[in-house]
Amino acid sequence: MVAAKKSKKLVDKCLQIKLAGIRFKNPVILASGTCGYGKKLSEFIDLNTVGGITTKGLSLKPRNGNPPPRIYETSSGVLNSIGLENVGTEKFIKDYLPFLKKFNTKIIANIFGNSIDEYKEVAKLLSAEDGISAIEINASCPNVKKGGMEFGKTPKGAGKLVEKVKSVSKVPVIMKLSPNVSNIEEIAKASEDSGADALSLINTLVGMAIDTKTRKPRLSTTTGGLSGPAIKPVALAMVWKVKNAVSLPIIGMGGIMNSNDVIEFMIAGASAIALGTAVMVNPYSVIEIINGLKSYCKENKIVSIKEIIGSLQI
Ligand SMILES: Cc1cc2nc3c(=O)[nH]c(=O)nc-3n(C[C@H](O)[C@H](O)[C@H](O)COP(=O)(O)O)c2cc1C
Repeated sequence: MVAAKKSKKLVDKCLQIKLAGIRFKNPVILASGTCGYGKKLSEFIDLNTVGGITTKGLSLKPRNGNPPPRIYETSSGVLNSIGLENVGTEKFIKDYLPFLKKFNTKIIANIFGNSIDEYKEVAKLLSAEDGISAIEINASCPNVKKGGMEFGKTPKGAGKLVEKVKSVSKVPVIMKLSPNVSNIEEIAKASEDSGADALSLINTLVGMAIDTKTRKPRLSTTTGGLSGPAIKPVALAMVWKVKNAVSLPIIGMGGIMNSNDVIEFMIAGASAIALGTAVMVNPYSVIEIINGLKSYCKENKIVSIKEIIGSLQI
């Protein structure tokens, strides 16, 4: 019994990572927008088991998002055009943060604004709250007309945004990158030069689907963001490219469905990963993935999962 307990402790220790100065109990983080503010998901899984939770993108005032239909399932992924619906910063702090703080996990606040000043204001308010471990800048949402992608698609825009958010944030700042650009490394580099503490990538890829009977698009916004298994090879290649271009730690995401996918992302260079579509498809996959990582460490005699980060053999 004592030996079993000791072995469990060792295995748990094996998954611990440190990213941007933050200690995570394991590298499994819930991606923004796919677990709301954690309440619903907590009915299915124990949120104490995950390394971190990223909130739905928060703006200063509440937003309704885009009209339906705004989710469409394709053969290998999900198209969404939610349009950053959220409760607003004030309501999140008052009604949702106290609930999330009850769990022994890191809370990352994903933020969004129509202007740089709005990003700054949201970052200032949230980073001052006890319990928020990091700010993640969403400058990569393809589903909104203003803001979102606007600041994330050029090195100059991304650099300026990071610099301004950093100037007010009391916690580390993570810049979330879009795959819908011609050179992701340039944007990663600009973010690093402007003071980002970490990068997360990728957000969804622009995609569309058509109803052939009505000849209408499946989404009210015509195009949307594609996530899930379809984008995994793209995401993996981008993580690897960015890893070679900057020294910042990376939170890798995009189509991760099982623990083997996680290991691929870590070997490519991610220090941690985030699960989005996988959680929407099967909330229990989170636990299966964490257990899968523990088994991988045990089977391969890996003392710390950090050993595999960026260990790609070419
Ligand atoms: C329904 C939905 C809502 C999302 N909302 C946000 C958001 O508010 N902010 C953000 O940065 N990313 C958002 N994303 C992107 C995810 O966080 C993630 O980057 C992307 O889905 C790729 O990971 P996945 O393939 O594991 O889902 C959203 C994705 C989906 C599917």
